[in-house]
Amino acid sequence: MKKTIKDFDLEGKKIIIRCDLNVPMTNNIIDDDTRIKSSVRTIKYALKSDAKVILLSHLGKVKTEEDKLTNSLYPVSLRLSEYLGLKVQFSKDTRSKELTEMASNLQNGEVLLIENTRFEDLNGQKESNCNLDLAKYWASLGDIFINDAYGSCHRNHASVTGIPKYLPSGIGFLVEKEIKKIDSLLNSKKNPFIVVLGGKKVDDKITLIEKLLEKCDKLLIGGAMSFTFLKAKKYNTGSSIVSEEHLEFASRMLNQYPNKIVLPVDFIVEANNEVINKNITDFNNNDIGYDIGTKTIKLFEKELISAQRVIINGPMGLFEDKRFAKGTDKILKILDKNRIKTVVGGGDTASAVNKLGYSSSFYHVSTGGGATMKYLENQTLVGIEAIEDKKENSNC
Ligand code: 3PG
Repeated sequence: MKKTIKDFDLEGKKIIIRCDLNVPMTNNIIDDDTRIKSSVRTIKYALKSDAKVILLSHLGKVKTEEDKLTNSLYPVSLRLSEYLGLKVQFSKDTRSKELTEMASNLQNGEVLLIENTRFEDLNGQKESNCNLDLAKYWASLGDIFINDAYGSCHRNHASVTGIPKYLPSGIGFLVEKEIKKIDSLLNSKKNPFIVVLGGKKVDDKITLIEKLLEKCDKLLIGGAMSFTFLKAKKYNTGSSIVSEEHLEFASRMLNQYPNKIVLPVDFIVEANNEVINKNITDFNNNDIGYDIGTKTIKLFEKELISAQRVIINGPMGLFEDKRFAKGTDKILKILDKNRIKTVVGGGDTASAVNKLGYSSSFYHVSTGGGATMKYLENQTLVGIEAIEDKKENSNC
């Protein structure tokens, strides 16, 4: 068991909380603030305990100086101020004398948000390569480290796994809740257990499939990911996205688990400016499947209505475009209507759940996509491993 924020006396101490405030933004305007809202409980708890709070987070990927313009956490500091009902101070530096002074001048009940940790990636990938000088510097700003960045817990980064090497550490309420919910679903003996995978990040997820197939009773694959499996079955997938390097893997999985993997039989394609439903057997070389089709929805429904527990990660199609949202919407509706115990695995799927209005329908909507997938694979995450163990009380 890991220490939690409740295991520390926080009064008057400087608490560094690593949050995942990596919210989707367009032109510096926040599109979805779920991750900000989810971070508030731990921050408020520290403030109520009269701590001085220092927040760290990444935002997007920072590869060029230009990326800094669109990946500043400043808009997040404003939104956070609204949720906390106090002014969140903001440091535009990630490492400087000014930042050190701001941190040391903090008073009890005040909050300081430090600029995007990945700005440190411009100078030798220091955040993403877990540079220990950087971690040591951030650790020097506080007294206790709390990891509440569930969505980043699979990253071996300086602000996640580096800082706890130098400070007493614990997990926050969000990380605790996420793990509890996912463990409860994974450890349940109620079957059938069905995993629904979709989305376009084929290369990221495809190797997890082997682990998932060992655990689940059925794996329903929709979204862009299905085309790699369909091509491995020798269908003409037209111009849809296929991960050529994973075709052999997909073929091996299909041979090993012929009764577990369920693939789409039809898709929504665009032809001559018209949106039509097309069987995979009828695809021509130009066709791109943008959503699962009506027969596939029925096929997936037949499997899902008997499910006792479900994990869904990745949308069934390009749901951001109304014309291709029906597959994702229907699958979420089936899970909701049949009250199936469902964990929604973060990222795009959580956005789809919010956008399509199902946010309060499910057992758990995770704030982490990649982290949840990694957790399903190993039932632990590097960011959690880096935290101190709780010493069990011995009455002997
Ligand atoms: C996420 O969006 O899944 C987390 O914030 C982690 O982001 P990353 O994949 O860029 O590390």
